[in-house]
Amino acid sequence: QSGFVTLDSGYKNTGATKSAITFLDGEEGVLKYRGYAIEELAEKSTFLEVAYLLIYGDLPSQTQLDAFQADISKHTLVHEDMKKFFDGFPSKSHPMGQLSSLICSLSAFYPESLNSRQTAEEQNQTIIKLLAKMTTVVSWIYKKSLGHPVIYPQNNLGYVSNFLNMTFGQRTEDVEIDPVFVSAMNVLFILHADHEQNCSTSTVRMVGSSECNLYASISAGISALWGPLHGGANQAVIEMLEQIKNDGGDTDKWINKAKDKNDPFRLMGFGHRVYKNFDPRAKIIKKACDDVLDKLGIDDPVLDIAKKLEAAALSDPYFVERKLYPNVDFYSGIIYRALGFPTDMFTVLFALGRLPGWIGQWKEMRENKEPIGRPRQIYIGETLRDYVELKDRK
Ligand code: SDX
Repeated sequence: QSGFVTLDSGYKNTGATKSAITFLDGEEGVLKYRGYAIEELAEKSTFLEVAYLLIYGDLPSQTQLDAFQADISKHTLVHEDMKKFFDGFPSKSHPMGQLSSLICSLSAFYPESLNSRQTAEEQNQTIIKLLAKMTTVVSWIYKKSLGHPVIYPQNNLGYVSNFLNMTFGQRTEDVEIDPVFVSAMNVLFILHADHEQNCSTSTVRMVGSSECNLYASISAGISALWGPLHGGANQAVIEMLEQIKNDGGDTDKWINKAKDKNDPFRLMGFGHRVYKNFDPRAKIIKKACDDVLDKLGIDDPVLDIAKKLEAAALSDPYFVERKLYPNVDFYSGIIYRALGFPTDMFTVLFALGRLPGWIGQWKEMRENKEPIGRPRQIYIGETLRDYVELKDRK
C-alpha cells in the first residue's frame, strides 16, 4: 500500500466529520441536540420543534413553527401513481424493505430533487416534501399490511397527530386519537431524532457525499437502520422477550446464552458503541413505558420480563465488565406494542423519528462541501499471479 493507512474496523476510533448537530458523551450518558439536553427536549418540546432545531439549527419561534407546519401540510399527499408501487409488494413483505424502496422512488415523482446543485430554496423544498410524505408512506405501508383502505392526510392536524390519524384512523368512522398516544409518540420520535455518526447516519452522509439526491441518500440510511444490530434491534428485542416469556421466563438461562461465546445469541437492546454507563434515552423510555401502560391500563408480561432481564444483566459481571446497559431499543418496542403497532413496524417508526437527524446531517455535509467518502484498506490478498488460460485450469 502506498502511504500510511491505519486500520480502524467499525470506525471505533475514527472521527469522520465535524458536526454542530448532536453531542454525545458516552461516559457521562449525555445527549444534546444543538446544545439542548435530550431530557429537556423530551419533556418540554414537540417532535416538529425538534425536527426544525436539528435541520435549521435553532428552536423555532411560533411564527417559524407555524410556517414549517403549514409548509409540511401542503406536501403530505403522495403522487397517486405511487399506489402502484405499494400494490406491487407482497402483503407480508417487511415494511423496512418497502420504506427504503418507496422513499427512493420519490425521486421519480419529484425529479427536481435530482439536481445535485440545488439552490438553498430548492433543497429546502425537497426536505419539506420528504418530511411530509414519509408520514403518509409509513402509515400507508401499515394500512396495506392490514388490507385496509389508506387514510389521507388532514391538513388541520399537527405532524404527529396526522401520522397517527392516517395510521389508526378508519374510512368508516371518525376515530379520536388518544392524546396519550400523541404525547408518547412525540417523546419517542424526539428520543430517536438524531444520534451523531451512527451506522445509518454515516450511510446517509456517505451516499450524499457523492452528490446523490436526498431521497436516495435517506433510502440508503433506512436500509442500514434495518439491521438487527442497529435500528432493527427494537423488533429483535420484542421477539427475544416473547421467546423468553414462551420459554417460561427463565431470564438467567438467556443471560447465560448471551454470555456463551459459542452461542450467537446476544441480548438485544443491550450494549452500545458509545454509551458505556447508560443510554439517557433508555432511562426516559423506561419511565414513559410505565406511564403509558398505566394510562392505557395495559399489563404487558414482556415488560416484567424486560425489567427482570435488565436487573439480572446489570448485576452480572460479564455485562458489567463490558459496560453493557439497556439502549434506546430495549424498552421502545413495549410502548409501540401498547400503542397497537405490529412488531415489524417498530423499525419503520425508528426511521420516522430519525428522519430529521438524517436530513440535518446530510444538509450539514453538503453545506460544508465535504469531499466524497472514500476510505482506504490494508490489502491482505494475493501478490502478483500470471493469467492461466481457461483450458489450462484444473
Ligand atoms: C442503536 O450507534 C448508535 O448511536 C446507534 C443507536 C442510534 O441511536 O443510532 O444508538 C441505535 O443501534 C442501538 C444499538 C441496538 N443494537 C442492539 O441492541 C443489538 C445488541 N447490541 C450489540 O450487538 C452491540 O452492543 C452493539 C452493536 C450495539 C455495539 O457493538 P460494539 O460496540 O461493536 O461492541 P462489540 O460487539 O465489540 O461488543 C463488545 C463486547 C463483546 O464481547 P468480547 O468479544 O469483548 O468478549 O461485548 C459483547 C461482545 O460479545 N456484547 C454483547 C452484547 N453487546 C456486546 N454480549 C451479549 N449481548 C449483547 N447485546
